[in-house]
Amino acid sequence: MLDGKKSLFSGMQATGTLHLGNYLGALKNWVTFEEEYQCFYSVVDMHSITVRQNPAELRKKARALLTLYIAAGLNPEKNCIYYQSHVSAHAELSWVLSCFTYMGELNRMTQYKDKAAKHADNINAGLFTYPVLMAADILLFQSDVVPVGSDQKQHLEITRDIATRFNNIYGDVFTIPEPYIGKAGARIMSLQEPTKKMSKSDENPNASINLMDDPDTIIRKFKRAVTDSDNEIRYSEDKPGISNLIDIYVAVTGKTIEETEKEFASSGYGDFKMAVGESVSSMLKPIQDRYAELAKDKAYIDKVIKENGEKAAYYANKTLRKVYKKIGFPQKIR
Ligand code: TRP
Repeated sequence: MLDGKKSLFSGMQATGTLHLGNYLGALKNWVTFEEEYQCFYSVVDMHSITVRQNPAELRKKARALLTLYIAAGLNPEKNCIYYQSHVSAHAELSWVLSCFTYMGELNRMTQYKDKAAKHADNINAGLFTYPVLMAADILLFQSDVVPVGSDQKQHLEITRDIATRFNNIYGDVFTIPEPYIGKAGARIMSLQEPTKKMSKSDENPNASINLMDDPDTIIRKFKRAVTDSDNEIRYSEDKPGISNLIDIYVAVTGKTIEETEKEFASSGYGDFKMAVGESVSSMLKPIQDRYAELAKDKAYIDKVIKENGEKAAYYANKTLRKVYKKIGFPQKIR
């Protein structure tokens, strides 16, 4: 709770380009929370450096992501959109929480194990303590709700464990957050390997629809999407390719699975793929136009960055001061 309103935090990394799965699974839902919650959406650039980054690229991508948040419909007057690195309380609380987190707990994190295997030449301590920084992100804002993909559920669990442990020692300092796992469109799969999630880091460009893809590219990628060969538009576990396309169509158009099956009962895969491609490209067009406009307005984006950064720092520092006091750090002399 913040100022009598429930609070919500989520974040994305600015690495790679955002794809359709990120939009349908996250951004599109985020836009619906602004009335009910006090919302904080961070570009989590501090998490990004757990993997080696090119500095110029990182800066560019972070700004692009922040701009895209707005282009996708997040009103920066109502949602606090900011860079994690602009609010030093993230790093400070992260240190404190690391002293309340056990090595054994972190060792069990599957994302750490995956990333360590993938970046065997750079298994740094930050990669290991990544979930602690994430806990700090969430707990700084007394978040009630955290919308995340299912791959982040384990990190939410450890956040709850750390917060509960801290509260048991020092009293009610932190709100214990609940995950919010979206329903429709929460899991968009790769267009090339439909049993795998659509991923930012996929090497195959045909596997994902980037939010900035033009209409021709979108249609072409859907036409090439991997499906079975029975040519029947039916939702079924043994038809992962077609089921994924139906999921996308349903998430974009708001129709149900049954309505979709009926609509395409006498169509083949070619027609259906075309329809899915067209629905996606007309959904993305206004976002792309808005993005192009915003990207040109440097002064406006700068203003959002400054004002929202200050707003985030205000709330974050409030929690941090409380934590410092509870654990026995001396008060600052003013
Ligand atoms: N780890 C998240 C991801 O990769 C991003 C993230 C960082 C996050 N801090 C967060 C998400 C806090 C939700 C809440 O998707």
